[in-house]
Amino acid sequence: MKIVNVVGARPNLIKIAPIVKEMEKYEVIEQVLLHTGQHYDYEMSQVFFEELGLPNPDIYLGIGSASHAAQTAKIMVEFEKFSLDWRPDLVLVVGDVNSTMACALTAAKLNIPVAHVEAGLRSFDRTMPEEINRIVTDALSSFLFTPSRDADINLKREGISEDKIFFVGNVMIDTLVSFQDKIADTALLQQFDLARKNYLLFTLHRPSAVDNKIVLEGILKAIEQIQQDIPVLFPIHPRTAQRVEDFGLVNLIESMPNLIVTKPLGYLSNLQAMANAKIVLTDSGGMQEETTWLGVPCLTLRENTERPVTVTEGTNKVIGTGSTQIFEETRRLLRGLTISGRVPELWDGMSGERIVSHLLNNYIL
Ligand code: UD1
Repeated sequence: MKIVNVVGARPNLIKIAPIVKEMEKYEVIEQVLLHTGQHYDYEMSQVFFEELGLPNPDIYLGIGSASHAAQTAKIMVEFEKFSLDWRPDLVLVVGDVNSTMACALTAAKLNIPVAHVEAGLRSFDRTMPEEINRIVTDALSSFLFTPSRDADINLKREGISEDKIFFVGNVMIDTLVSFQDKIADTALLQQFDLARKNYLLFTLHRPSAVDNKIVLEGILKAIEQIQQDIPVLFPIHPRTAQRVEDFGLVNLIESMPNLIVTKPLGYLSNLQAMANAKIVLTDSGGMQEETTWLGVPCLTLRENTERPVTVTEGTNKVIGTGSTQIFEETRRLLRGLTISGRVPELWDGMSGERIVSHLLNNYIL
């Protein structure tokens, strides 16, 4: 059984790690790891291979950054060449980035079955590039591995047959569970001179938040007020760093004495930064899930979430990108209000095992 596991962007690496490790246990599986190169900076890619113990990619397509159409098209051209040459029995894609959709679409046109891990999530907001990627990938997949029950409902509503849908839990949490012993390490806090539960972690990278000057400036103005009360750690995504410069907001950032701006953090550092934070302010999908598992309050700086279970069961609250709202909601939490939650069903560290077991059952039995 020849399987190509596809990664392209930072969150893909965290999601693929438990699957690659599980597949290594079975001789019957011949797997290759293919990296499209959508993310290429050391901090956005290589550091995750090192920390997560992932094997180096067998194939690196070296695509890099481009517009949506150009990036998607380049990945498709290169992935088609690879697929015609290596002839996989299955293409496994994770998440919702351009690499996910591009490889799923290429495989479907070559009649190669696609397995989609993290299927069925919907924000119902088609202005989000990831929503388009999710809808297309799910429509083309033969195996849809879902992280939560809401995802199953979304897929059935879209007419996807039930026998293709497998509720397996959350692979990102598999990785977190495998690293939980390392959370207590305080090197990161020492590095930035921060105290446990006495700082905020802030991350931002969605086009809807950072590609519009008024929105980005409003968010930073809220941070300006917040950092007067508590230090804020801000690992800055390359897209955001670029926009801060484009929009002339460097001075605003540099004027905040309690805002610690740093390069994107590696996996472990980010985990420690989340686990020890008093509050996490973010627009990341993965961090909404990770904070839910960690029991850390998360304020999501978006108008919606494709991960509603983090709100209904977890510690997440979706508050939008308005400056006043961000400041008010943060202040409420700083003054003692809390968001309590529980760990959602099957977010137990075993999702990779379930996925591989379903695939083996289907192909071998
Ligand atoms: C992508 C995903 C997003 C995911 C995010 C995680 C899509 C449509 N978006 O967004 O869903 O949440 O990754 O990080 O697939 N850049 C660098 N170095 C890199 C990578 C990017 O400098 O290693 C810069 C480039 O200027 C690039 C910009 O960041 O143009 C955006 O990169 P891109 O991969 O297009 O989207 P992300 O915003 O990273």
